[in-house]
Amino acid sequence: MKALVVPLAVALATLGKSCLAFPAHSASNNASVDGLYNLVNRRVPQHAGAFRFALASGNNTGLDTFTLRDVTSQDDSCGAQIDIECNSISACARGLYTYVTEFGGVDIWWTGSRLDQIADSLPSVGTPVTRSSVVRYRYFFNTVTFSYTTAFYAFEDWELLLDWMALRGINLPLAWVGYEYILVEVFQEAGLSDTDIADFLSGPAFQAWNRFGNIQGSWMGELPRQWIDDQFALQKKLVSRMVELGMTPVLPSFAGFVPRTFATLYPNASVVVGGQWNGFPPTYTNDSFLEPFDPLFTTLQKSFIDKQSAAYGNVSHIYTLDQYNENNPYNGSLSYLANISSATLASLKSVDSQAVWLMQGWLFFSAETFWTNERVQAYLEGVPGNDSMIILDLYSEAQPQWQRLSSYFGKQWIWCELHDFGGNQGMEGNFINVTAAPIEALSSPGSTMVGVGLTPEGLEGNELVYDVLLDQAWSSDALDRAAYVTSWVSRRYYTPDLPSAAVDAWQLLSSTVYSNTDPSSQATVKSIFELEPALAGLVNRTGHHPTLVFYDTNTTVVPALKMLIEAGYKSEELASVPEYQYDLVDITRQLLANRFIDIYQSLITVYNSSTSTENDVSRVAEPLQELLFDLDHVLLTNSHFLLPRWIGAAKAWSRGNATISSYLEYNARNQITLWGPTGQINDYASKQWGGLVNGYYARRWEAFVQYLVETKKNGTSYNATTVSDVMLEIGEEWDKQLSDSEQAYLGSTENSWEIVQQIVVKYC
Ligand SMILES: *[C@@H]1O[C@H](CO)[C@@H](O)[C@H](O)[C@H]1NC(C)=O
Ligand SMILES: *[C@@H]1O[C@H](CO)[C@@H](O)[C@H](O)[C@H]1NC(C)=O
Ligand SMILES: *[C@@H]1O[C@H](CO)[C@@H](O)[C@H](O)[C@H]1NC(C)=O
Ligand SMILES: *[C@@H]1O[C@H](CO)[C@@H](O)[C@H](O)[C@H]1NC(C)=O
Ligand SMILES: *[C@@H]1O[C@H](CO)[C@@H](O)[C@H](O)[C@H]1NC(C)=O
Ligand SMILES: *[C@@H]1O[C@H](CO)[C@@H](O)[C@H](O)[C@H]1NC(C)=O
Ligand SMILES: *[C@@H]1O[C@H](CO)[C@@H](O)[C@H](O)[C@H]1NC(C)=O
Ligand SMILES: *[C@@H]1O[C@H](CO)[C@@H](O)[C@H](O)[C@H]1NC(C)=O
Ligand SMILES: *[C@@H]1O[C@H](CO)[C@@H](O)[C@H](O)[C@H]1NC(C)=O
Ligand SMILES: *[C@@H]1O[C@H](CO)[C@@H](O)[C@H](O)[C@H]1NC(C)=O
Ligand SMILES: *[C@@H]1O[C@H](CO)[C@@H](O)[C@H](O)[C@H]1NC(C)=O
Ligand SMILES: *[C@@H]1O[C@H](CO)[C@@H](O)[C@H](O)[C@H]1NC(C)=O
Repeated sequence: MKALVVPLAVALATLGKSCLAFPAHSASNNASVDGLYNLVNRRVPQHAGAFRFALASGNNTGLDTFTLRDVTSQDDSCGAQIDIECNSISACARGLYTYVTEFGGVDIWWTGSRLDQIADSLPSVGTPVTRSSVVRYRYFFNTVTFSYTTAFYAFEDWELLLDWMALRGINLPLAWVGYEYILVEVFQEAGLSDTDIADFLSGPAFQAWNRFGNIQGSWMGELPRQWIDDQFALQKKLVSRMVELGMTPVLPSFAGFVPRTFATLYPNASVVVGGQWNGFPPTYTNDSFLEPFDPLFTTLQKSFIDKQSAAYGNVSHIYTLDQYNENNPYNGSLSYLANISSATLASLKSVDSQAVWLMQGWLFFSAETFWTNERVQAYLEGVPGNDSMIILDLYSEAQPQWQRLSSYFGKQWIWCELHDFGGNQGMEGNFINVTAAPIEALSSPGSTMVGVGLTPEGLEGNELVYDVLLDQAWSSDALDRAAYVTSWVSRRYYTPDLPSAAVDAWQLLSSTVYSNTDPSSQATVKSIFELEPALAGLVNRTGHHPTLVFYDTNTTVVPALKMLIEAGYKSEELASVPEYQYDLVDITRQLLANRFIDIYQSLITVYNSSTSTENDVSRVAEPLQELLFDLDHVLLTNSHFLLPRWIGAAKAWSRGNATISSYLEYNARNQITLWGPTGQINDYASKQWGGLVNGYYARRWEAFVQYLVETKKNGTSYNATTVSDVMLEIGEEWDKQLSDSEQAYLGSTENSWEIVQQIVVKYC
């Protein structure tokens, strides 16, 4: 049935477009609405001819606005039914989103697009609906998302994410892919040799920190030329798709980091050596930085931006440029800092007179001791005027800096939700902090806030708290949690007669797990089983990487899971909705992650008791192993929770070259485990994925338990160094192994449904 409908609809779409009375380009900005028709064709092909987009000109408020209307029959003979008029492409995309979600009841998710499930007969709008954004910019991405989440994305993965972004109204995305291609050309032009350059570039899973000037080189071999070329080809497609969808890509620029031999080649250049980052050996850190007031800096900047606009077109004037991310300036004097920033902007302006410098404001929080108010002021005020700079207040929901820094001393800034560190998956959020807080910031006296944005380090779960901020960008009143959740759940599980238990489950979670009022743990909660096993120091961590479970699992996660299961019993349709299946596995994952803590604590108590025997220790450790096995089992039932998905995506970029394939696999493995040659940032980007839980974390816990049993038996005392050494060895071995067995995981067809029920019986 469906197969018949689609080709017909595509034919209609072509017909529909050709008989549009509206000009394809607006007179004022020459923007084309073609990208919107392409979006409809991709996501709602059966209604391709039903939507009519028109760019209206002349509204210069700086905010985006759209109007939805029904098309009357005398107004159109081509089958158009819904008119979307807007003052920007992005506003039209948001208008389409408002229609499909609020009228159609369907949505597009990280798990996939369900927009094609919209009714055959499109609902009418009735009274026209006009909406405006409350901020000029809706920003997306953290520099590190390009390593933690999208490092190995294929174009199809990007396509889904870009549609997700465009529809939600994102108009300012960061666009880092393929950076190295142009950088290499710039370095070659400067006279550096291929070896000099290869010594500088980091591996595919670690490029974000090379771009930040935190690390250099690769502990796993040279970055393959093929990777550089392929990423550049990908970026061309991504930039043009972003533009087509009404987004202004924030493009890279030359930040100042150069191969260490640059200083030899240019002995008179002002090159300083940066600090050691996260305990990496100096070969891999202490990056060389060409100071911006050196004339060579402008030469390289010009070379970079000229090559970039030749490659992607003159599509943006906004450039990302971070010099001091977790890497303090060489000199703290106010005049030095002002000199650096004024020369940096001047270098951009020398190539692009409309250049705007965008920077992540993480440093002002993470290195707050260095970045006193005076220093931040000197650095920001080195840039003349207020229009040439945008600062991302990166972690606004928990550690906002804009109040301390007087609204960035008048510079434009964007209120950003960070929320996720390292692509970790614990459920967490606070509705008030992402609804009321940005609205208050916008209306605070003297505020120079110009946008809201999402800057998560990784995109792994908790989609609710990201959706809500992007919706908040179109409402001047703080969104009401309960009402928001009800409509969010009904479109997430778009199903006839959705059982109320499904909504109740999310109302409970949103009022507890997603209403975290403890400011010291406002970030995804890491599970202790993902950390290197130890006798102490794992439980109840707060601050930067919290393991504190701030809610009572028994009165939140447990009843929510039971309600969700009950809803699935009542509705077979619901049980087959991919987002429902995802949530079922995700909440079960959280239940087991939290239960692990109790078992671990019993183990430690028994071990520490002077009267316990090695048999007591063995016995109390059994459920710990069993839990990890059960968790792995349930994760393996859902394609979104699979280690082979990550590794497979990495290997796919090898294009069949075995050398490159094993190189990419090591990159992919090392990032989520040791993060560095010898565990420099161990477990930071840990994941609760099928294949990883049983294949890695369970192996470490098994070794730990074995050590506890042996020391008990031998009557020797616990030695933390010995345990760490054992764990590092396991990590090094695991990182270097190659999987040829992922088919075994991917082929798993076991039903989550049954496994989840067994888990509920056992753990609730
Ligand atoms: C729009 O395109 C036309 C024809 O190419 C050109 O003459 C005009 O200057 C453009 N307008 C703007 C605002 O770029
Ligand atoms: C211009 O935009 C503002 C704010 O987005 C909106 O309130 C207003 O209705 C728009 N005016 C026109 C003429 O479209
Ligand atoms: C595979 O890639 C490596 C590293 O880039 C290269 O040296 C080698 O020639 C390639 N092998 C084949 C068969 O193309
Ligand atoms: C560096 O500066 C010295 C002293 O001014 C000058 O003699 C020398 O030629 C310069 N070297 C280069 C490579 O520019
Ligand atoms: C690396 O930076 C640290 C400061 O963080 C410094 O002590 C060390 O000397 C530097 N090493 C090199 C080789 O530059
Ligand atoms: C970009 O703009 C510059 C300066 O206006 C111009 O020289 C160049 O040809 C343009 N490049 C492209 C690809 O349009
Ligand atoms: C720091 O910069 C100031 C001002 O440019 C300069 O006077 C001072 O010598 C510099 N200090 C160092 C250690 O380079
Ligand atoms: C986050 O919410 C808590 C209470 O819910 C509040 O104390 C805190 O100030 C909020 N933080 C921000 C940045 O809004
Ligand atoms: C962790 O916090 C919980 C709740 O406050 C407390 O019951 C428990 O004893 C703490 N555990 C450790 C190891 O600190
Ligand atoms: C939570 O439920 C489990 C399983 O029923 C039980 O063992 C545990 O004591 C309960 N914990 C709390 C804090 O009530
Ligand atoms: C316990 O003693 C045995 C036999 O002497 C030895 O092989 C083993 O390494 C010891 N284990 C630990 C953890 O000390
Ligand atoms: C712990 O083990 C390390 C080597 O693994 C050893 O150097 C150290 O002396 C041991 N510590 C104690 C207190 O035995």
